[in-house]
Amino acid sequence: MKALVYTGPGMIEVLDRPRPVIQAPTDAVVRLLHASICGTDLHILKGDVPTAKPGLILGHEGVGVVEELGESVHSLRVGDRVLISCMTACGACKFCRRGISAHCETGGWVLGHHVDGTQAEYVRVPHATLSLHPLAASIDSRAAVAVSDAFPTGLECGVLSANVQPGGSVVIVGAGPVGMAALLTARLYTPSLVVMVDLDEARLETARQLGAHATVNSGVADARARLLALTEGQGFDSVIEAVGIPATFDLCQELVAVGGRIANVGVHGTKVDLHLDRLWDRNISIHMALVNATTTPRLLRLMESGELEIGKLVTHNYPCSEGVTAYSTFQTAAQHQALKVAIDFSSSN
Ligand SMILES: NC(=O)c1ccc[n+]([C@@H]2O[C@H](COP(=O)([O-])OP(=O)(O)OC[C@H]3O[C@@H](n4cnc5c(N)ncnc54)[C@H](O)[C@@H]3O)[C@@H](O)[C@H]2O)c1
Ligand SMILES: [Zn+2]
Ligand SMILES: [Zn+2]
Repeated sequence: MKALVYTGPGMIEVLDRPRPVIQAPTDAVVRLLHASICGTDLHILKGDVPTAKPGLILGHEGVGVVEELGESVHSLRVGDRVLISCMTACGACKFCRRGISAHCETGGWVLGHHVDGTQAEYVRVPHATLSLHPLAASIDSRAAVAVSDAFPTGLECGVLSANVQPGGSVVIVGAGPVGMAALLTARLYTPSLVVMVDLDEARLETARQLGAHATVNSGVADARARLLALTEGQGFDSVIEAVGIPATFDLCQELVAVGGRIANVGVHGTKVDLHLDRLWDRNISIHMALVNATTTPRLLRLMESGELEIGKLVTHNYPCSEGVTAYSTFQTAAQHQALKVAIDFSSSN
């Protein structure tokens, strides 16, 4: 089969690989229809995730058809169209039982990290019962790739962690697919002000179309002052960091209101300063998390009912043979006005 393989820092290649087979009775093998590229895949290429080793097939997002099932997977049938969750969950270990399946003792973020991932014609999914979600017929396969990771991350690590409330004020720093998913799911809670921050004007324009009340380009000299002015100098109740660099986490610390919450979503590859000297008396909290993806069934229901405009996030798609171009498009998203980039597999139709 064809697969997108991480071959070393900054390098990705389309290579031939053997088709995966069932290794444990709890596994499934899924034939991909569509996979997608995540900001976290770019962090792997940058060397920010040293636990991902060269030779790995990348990807933890995708939609496919169940090709083969281990003998103890009873909730799925061969031929089912399924969403592959970015999180693999056994459902039985001490972390899964506490709802922290990101830290499942035999799962968590394994696909495209510790084991071969979804950017290939076939993928082996461990703990298939809880890690695959059957898709209702009305759900578009390509659009649904955004629910593997971006939407549960935006909702759980962003909106819920930042305690978005009716009437509250929200700022989201980073208008990538994860930030956009935070924007769309924040709106479900009817905050009175949602502001999106990025350097990319095209993404800021999309954010306005998706319902942001205001946008600020953080590349302008007085960005911080402009942002604070939107709250009459008070700062924001909910501050969501969806980039993963020191400059944006710093900005979040400057934007949080008294009593507010900072939710860090970004994957960080270097240390970041914590300004306790300024923040110690502000009655704030800072939350950081790897997504558990426990909200995925709810997000799929919202997608089915039409309450979430998930389809707008997937802006580009390429065949697997052009996987390297798909990566360069996502890496230079601003030039291509790209948000989520999908990879389509020839076996899909
Ligand atoms: N915590 C989790 O479980 C989890 C899960 C998925 C993704 N992530 C992380 O979330 C982050 C966002 O993911 P994504 O797929 O949307 O990535 P992305 O790369 O598409 O988006 C990042 C955005 O940040 C913007 N940006 C860069 N520098 C900036 C700056 N100085 N000021 C303002 N904006 C700036 C970019 O223009 C881009 O729009 C990444 O760090 C990703 O690794 C975390
Ligand atoms: Zn991801
Ligand atoms: Zn577990």
